[in-house]
Amino acid sequence: MKGIILAGGTGSRLMPITAGTTKQLLPIYDKPMIYYPLSVLMLAGIRDILVIAAPESMPAVQGLLGDGSRIGINLSYAEQPEPRGIPDAYVIGARHVGAERSALVLGDNLFHGAGFQDLLREAREKDNGCTLFGYPVADPERYAVGETDREGNLTGIEEKPARPRSHNAITGLYFYDGDVVEMARSLRPSARGELEITDINRMYLEQRRVSLVQLGRGFTWLDAGTFRSLLDASQYVQVLVDRQGVRVACIEEIALRMGFISGADCHELGLAMGNSDYGRYVREVALALS
Ligand code: G1P
Repeated sequence: MKGIILAGGTGSRLMPITAGTTKQLLPIYDKPMIYYPLSVLMLAGIRDILVIAAPESMPAVQGLLGDGSRIGINLSYAEQPEPRGIPDAYVIGARHVGAERSALVLGDNLFHGAGFQDLLREAREKDNGCTLFGYPVADPERYAVGETDREGNLTGIEEKPARPRSHNAITGLYFYDGDVVEMARSLRPSARGELEITDINRMYLEQRRVSLVQLGRGFTWLDAGTFRSLLDASQYVQVLVDRQGVRVACIEEIALRMGFISGADCHELGLAMGNSDYGRYVREVALALS
């Protein structure tokens, strides 16, 4: 199975923070934003991942993550010259994905919750159709919004509706079968001039090939596309570190737990981070787990 992280866009809603850098490299408390979506794909056991970024942010993104071998994965890169919408990831990434199943995650989405790895495993094992993840939010008009029947099956989906029919946002994590590339290629831009991921998800819905996984209230989904949500995400991660000592989306720890690297490798990575608290945590995890 292939993975894609879409880290494109101009970050215009976060100007001037994004004037000299790219949104997905901004810190969410103790680590760059892109660690969070990367950790989701790693937890799903996906090790062959394409990172899509704007040409001007490519050197910084590549400089940060490299070829992935440090953490036992294979990262490749492709440029998105202009933001043309989320499905563009599959037009740009057609060769990377081929006819395989894949998971796409948006570069500013943070997921955290007990049992997430099991949900990811189930999504990964499904070989027909697509899997979407729903999450109740107070401001559904900012997202794609799903409607369900009594059994929780998805019956409709609307992109950023002025009058949302539910509070159930469709998050920025998508698992697709091998049909997605052709579907992405067949799309036409919407009224806002972008290809819409909701149009692909509707095609799957019309074919009755969508599974909606509901992320419950014990779960956290945040995006970091506004000043407010950027700070919310940082504070959420800070509370977990301060209270429990756990570091969400520590890619070195995940690589070790997933068996992608050895304890010695992990310890080396911690050492390379000098005396940062994050580096110390990586060293402690390496010692505790090996
Ligand atoms: C995008 C998608 C939307 C989805 C959201 C999740 O919105 O278009 O369907 O619910 O990501 O983060 P955007 O971030 O482009 O506003």
